[in-house]
Amino acid sequence: MIRLLTTSFLFCLAMVFSFGFNLDAEIQEEGERIILQRCLMCHDSKRIEDAEYDHKGWKETVERMMSIGSRITPAEKEILIDYLTRDLEETDSED
Ligand code: HEC
Repeated sequence: MIRLLTTSFLFCLAMVFSFGFNLDAEIQEEGERIILQRCLMCHDSKRIEDAEYDHKGWKETVERMMSIGSRITPAEKEILIDYLTRDLEETDSED
C-alpha cells in the first residue's frame, strides 16, 4: 500500500513538474514568436528590452501598440504580457 502511494505520489509530482516546465517553455516560445511577428516591424527589440514595466504597464503598452497598428489577437496579448513580465523578473539576461 505504501509503495503504491509512493509511486502515485511520485507520478503526480512528475506530472506537475513536466506540466509546469512545458507551460514555461510554451510562453517563452510563443512570446518570442509574437514579438518577432507582431512587434518588430516598427521598431527593434531594444525598445522592448529597455522598457521596464510590471504586468499592468505592459498591458497598457501592448494595448497602445495595438491601437497604433500591432495586429495581435486577444490570446496572443495575454501570452505576450506574461512573457514580457516574466522576462523582467529574471535577474540576469540570458542573451
Ligand atoms: C505599428 C507600429 C508598431 C508596432 C506594430 C509596435 N510598436 Fe511599439 N512603438 C511604436 C512607436 C511609433 C513607438 C514610439 C512612440 C510611442 O512610444 O508611442 C513605439 C514604442 C514602443 C515602446 C517604448 C515606449 C514605451 O511606451 O515604453 C515599447 C516598449 C514598445 N513600443 C513595445 C511594443 C511591443 C511589445 C509591440 C508588439 C506587441 C510593439 N511595440 C509593436 C510602433 C509600433
